[in-house]
Amino acid sequence: MRVLVTGAAGYIGSHALKRLRAEGHDVVALDDLRRGHVRALRGVELIETSVHDRPRVEREMKARGIEAVMHFAASCYVGESVERPLEYYENNVVGTLRLAEACVAAGVGTFVLSSTAATYGEPDVVPIPEETPRRPVNPYGRSKAMAEDVLTDCAAASSLRPIFLRYFNAAGADPEGELGEDHDPETHLVPNAIRAALGRAPGMRIFGDDYDTPDGTCVRDYVHVTDLAQAHVRALEFAAAGGSCRAFNLGCGSGYSVKEVVDTVREVSGRDFEVSIEGRRAGDPPVLVAASARARDELGWRPEHESLREIVETAWRWLEAHPNGYE
Ligand SMILES: NC(=O)c1ccc[n+]([C@@H]2O[C@H](COP(=O)([O-])OP(=O)(O)OC[C@H]3O[C@@H](n4cnc5c(N)ncnc54)[C@H](O)[C@@H]3O)[C@@H](O)[C@H]2O)c1
Repeated sequence: MRVLVTGAAGYIGSHALKRLRAEGHDVVALDDLRRGHVRALRGVELIETSVHDRPRVEREMKARGIEAVMHFAASCYVGESVERPLEYYENNVVGTLRLAEACVAAGVGTFVLSSTAATYGEPDVVPIPEETPRRPVNPYGRSKAMAEDVLTDCAAASSLRPIFLRYFNAAGADPEGELGEDHDPETHLVPNAIRAALGRAPGMRIFGDDYDTPDGTCVRDYVHVTDLAQAHVRALEFAAAGGSCRAFNLGCGSGYSVKEVVDTVREVSGRDFEVSIEGRRAGDPPVLVAASARARDELGWRPEHESLREIVETAWRWLEAHPNGYE
């Protein structure tokens, strides 16, 4: 298929681009580079614009015969979303709405949205099935839940067929070493622990060690970025075959504590580093683990890098080789 990938210069979008090409799809990248990296595109043609530029996006889709859209472009920091909520609603809700308008006008039906476990908030049931009521606890999670709703309503009135992929904690890097995670600021645990191991940060902070979990630190479900990329291609096929408005959790179904991740980074890197314990952050649930049978059963998703060690090893290899990221 001819696929337009928004946010393709970002962390997960660039890995999806690589997987799509490997599976024989034709790809075009769209990114305004507010946070992305041209080098992550590895030569794929870039439409450098915002998803908000509806006339241009529609024109480009028609001119290139686009058949499907993968929509990664978004603002994705929880803390920032609390400080600047309107920016998040503008980019994640209005941006998705503009893109949906362009799709409908250009006759593009297949649409895969990057959604998130943050749409669930602090669920009562863990592992979390997709039927869990969405009760997001911050503007980022709410903006993604709203984006799902906008697309669901649009689908009822048009030929759009959106699929919602709710990722848990994306981590790791391209096993071939070509792509990795380069965020500024970096808020994710694995790269921050690795930066500390590389001596590029004075140490790292753990927020709360008094949760009701085996070692007191928060437990999360880490999913390898390459496995997310694979799930996107399977979702594309599912939507192209007529699937619509279906949500899928993308997580491995096992949880690791913050301390376990830190220990794994120490083991893999062979280096020790300072860790300070700070107070809990508001809105951090103790345990977030996916029930992911639906993606395996209905999409045929087969994660290939489920062990925490493998996730950390691939991230370590890329960051050790690229301490300044894509610079
Ligand atoms: N990283 C995670 O753990 C995680 C977890 C759940 C969901 N997600 C979702 O996955 C998607 C990708 O996340 P990521 O970690 O790769 O983020 P990222 O910041 O690395 O990539 C996002 C890309 O989108 C681009 N972008 C942002 N707004 C744009 C706009 N209006 N027009 C065009 N381009 C725009 C940025 O320049 C960047 O290249 C996001 O939608 C995010 O909400 C990520």
